[in-house]
Amino acid sequence: MIHSRLGFASILGLVLACAAVSACGDENSGSGGAGGDGGAGGSGGSGGSGGTGGAGGSGGSGGAGGSDLVMTEADFGCILEWEKVRSYRITNKLGNLDATLAAANAPGTVDFPVGTVIQLVPHEAMVKRAPGFSEASNDWEFFFLEVSDMGTKIVQRGVTEPANPLGTCLSCHAKATPEFDFVCEKSHGCDPLPLSDDDIQMVQNGDPRCTMP
Ligand code: HEC
Repeated sequence: MIHSRLGFASILGLVLACAAVSACGDENSGSGGAGGDGGAGGSGGSGGSGGTGGAGGSGGSGGAGGSDLVMTEADFGCILEWEKVRSYRITNKLGNLDATLAAANAPGTVDFPVGTVIQLVPHEAMVKRAPGFSEASNDWEFFFLEVSDMGTKIVQRGVTEPANPLGTCLSCHAKATPEFDFVCEKSHGCDPLPLSDDDIQMVQNGDPRCTMP
């Protein structure tokens, strides 16, 4: 127990240091990178953390055509408000939560639908973009975030570059065997994280955005 907490503290320390100095990426430059299609207009900027998140409605089932999720800082929020599946928190910002939860609850049977957002800890996220966004990640976009009681700042986003002190997101998550659609969990083939489930729950509970007015 003591051992695992030390491990946790040092990892968290590294991660925070990394966020503060942005030493873990090449450039930070705000919301950089992303790649192109800002024009898509992303889910209608509905306005921030509060509320129902998403409206999106119609889109639905697997990117029927043209629906994509271009996350803005205001689209992120308190992860404790999302569904918890095993260790992680999950939602769908395009109104397709049923399909997202169906995929989460039957690991290895179906890919996650467009609009899915998964977070294990408050400062890292993976977001399922529209088909064609990235072959290398099966259309996942990775995020490294800075979170505080002021909200969310996107430090890094993209496919190949976002990283934490242990490496790039893609380098680990690509090791999940293909049927799991880049989701690692405990046993899908990724290098493990030095965090117990208690550590993970504690970090989730500490999401500073959950105390925002
Ligand atoms: C050292 C390998 C490694 C690196 C680097 C890494 N992850 Fe993970 N990630 C994991 C493992 C292993 C889990 C599962 C942990 C658990 O459930 O105990 C995980 C879990 C997650 C989850 C929850 C869903 C899942 O896959 O289980 C998300 C979301 C996530 N990581 C995002 C990221 C992002 C974003 C980055 C980069 C900023 C990143 N990860 C970097 C190994 C890694």
